[in-house]
Amino acid sequence: MQKIIIDTDPGIDDALAILLALAAKDELEVIALTTVNGNVGIDKVTKNALKILEIAGKNVIPVYKGNAKPLMRKSGHCEEYHGDDGLGNLGFGDCCRGDCQKEYAVDFLVRKVKAETGEITLVAIGPLTNVAEAVQRDSEFAQSVKELIIMGGAEYEGNMSPHAEFNFWTDPEAAKIVFSAGFKKVTMVGLEATSYAFLSPALRELLYLINTPVSRFIYEITRVYADGNWNMKRELGCRLCDVLTIVYLLNRDVVKTVDAFVDIETQGLCDGASVVYRTKRYPDKKKNCEIAVKADAKGFFEIFFGYLFPEYLNIVKELLNGKEEV
Ligand code: RIB
Ligand code: CA
Repeated sequence: MQKIIIDTDPGIDDALAILLALAAKDELEVIALTTVNGNVGIDKVTKNALKILEIAGKNVIPVYKGNAKPLMRKSGHCEEYHGDDGLGNLGFGDCCRGDCQKEYAVDFLVRKVKAETGEITLVAIGPLTNVAEAVQRDSEFAQSVKELIIMGGAEYEGNMSPHAEFNFWTDPEAAKIVFSAGFKKVTMVGLEATSYAFLSPALRELLYLINTPVSRFIYEITRVYADGNWNMKRELGCRLCDVLTIVYLLNRDVVKTVDAFVDIETQGLCDGASVVYRTKRYPDKKKNCEIAVKADAKGFFEIFFGYLFPEYLNIVKELLNGKEEV
C-alpha cells in the first residue's frame, strides 16, 4: 500500500487522476488532497476537489487549500481547456457539500510528511507553488518525502509556449526550487510521455455507454477538454496528462524513464522551460530526477478502465486492438 498526497489544481485531467487513485484502494491510500492555484483560481480548484471526492463517495478524505498565486508572479489560468469553473462549466463544483480543512495546505504538507518521514509519496499535478513553499519552510521536507512524482515540464515542446509546459510556466520559480531541493526520488512526467495518454473519441464514447455516475461525469467534463484540444490544436480527443502519474504509481512498467538533470528557466524567451540534460548524454551533470520519455498507451488505458470500470476491461482491450465490433 502506497500512502500518497495529491497536490492538485482540478482541472479536468486532475479529476480523472484523483478518481483513478481513489479506485485503486488496495494499492493506494490517498491521505489528502492539497489544492493550488493553476487551471483556475484557488477557491474554484478547492471546491472542485471537494466535488470530485463527493462524486467518488470519498468526502472523508480531507482537502487542504493552498497557494492562491505563484511564488513571485501573477496568476495564469487555463479556462480555455478546463472551463471557467475548472470542471467543464457543467456546474459540478457549485453543489459540493463539505468544506476544506482550516489548516493551510503547506502547513499540512510539512506537518504530515515530517510526522511520517520516508513513508509518503507526493504526487504533484499542478503548479509546484505549494511544494516549493514547503521546501522553503522546512529544510528537511525534501528528504522526508519518500518519492515525488510531478506531472509537468517537457523535454522538447511545451504547451503554453514552444518551450514551457503549463504547470512549470505558471510558476517557474517554484519549479526551479523543487528541482534543486534534493528530494530523494523525483520523476518528472512531462508532455512527451503524456502524449500517449490520449483519450480517443471511441474510448470517450464508451464512457457514455458504461452509464454510471462516474463514467458519465468523466464523459461530461472531458467534452470541454476535447473541445479545447480541437479548437487549439485540431486534435480529436484529449490528453489525460495528470492521470499518467497515477498509472505510473500503479504499474511502473507502463512508463519508460531515463536519468536526467533538469533545471528551469525563469526569464526571457524560454521562460518556464524545463531544460533536460539526460545524464547518459551529459555525464558531467548530476542526476536530480528521472524523466518519463514514453508510455505504453494500451497499458495506460487498461489500468484506467481496469480500476474504474473493471467489467468493461475486455471491451477496452478489443477497442485498443482495433476491433470495431466489440
Ligand atoms: O500541462 C498539463 C498540466 O496543466 C496538467 O496538470 C493540467 O491539469 C494542467 O494543469
Ligand atoms: Ca493539473
